[in-house]
Amino acid sequence: MTRCMPALTTPLVAASLLLLALAGVASADKGPGFVVTGRVYCDPCRAGFETNVSHNVEGATVAVDCRPFNGGESKLKAEATTDKNGWYKIEIDQDHQEEICEVVLAKSPDKSCSEIEEFRDRARVPLTSNNGIKQQGIRYANPIAFFRKEPLKECGGILQAYDLRDAPETP
Ligand SMILES: *[C@@H]1O[C@H](CO)[C@@H](O)[C@H](O)[C@H]1NC(C)=O
Repeated sequence: MTRCMPALTTPLVAASLLLLALAGVASADKGPGFVVTGRVYCDPCRAGFETNVSHNVEGATVAVDCRPFNGGESKLKAEATTDKNGWYKIEIDQDHQEEICEVVLAKSPDKSCSEIEEFRDRARVPLTSNNGIKQQGIRYANPIAFFRKEPLKECGGILQAYDLRDAPETP
């Protein structure tokens, strides 16, 4: 069994190398580019999830921030602004395999919904093509929210309704 391995693997290795070389040529003209996209919303109840009173935010500024795994300075700070439906698009033209990349809230256009809460102000996004993700360069980040400083007065009832709906013992 093991004796026939070399004869079998050599052509396979050669074919893989050829494929890799071809892939390299094919991607060389465009580079390892990514488009990071996602949505920004206002969370008036500070719930950490979308409710029937949350809404998408137009004109919000977000940034992509990449930090090396082994600590050290963050490297990339590409910025973008959300469109009228709250969506942003950021083009990244490098592979960031050795880094943790995140989309981070930068600035809200709406004073009444502009609180940025530590740790809840970001979404991780993998910016490498070497992790098996095949999405033709598009990377979807989870929605991120600005919070209202004071929750709306109806939030108590709304959150209670969501809680009841999620509770397993609810009939
Ligand atoms: C949101 O949901 C709550 C609870 O189900 C309800 O009482 C409230 O009227 C809803 N508000 C809107 C704006 O739809």
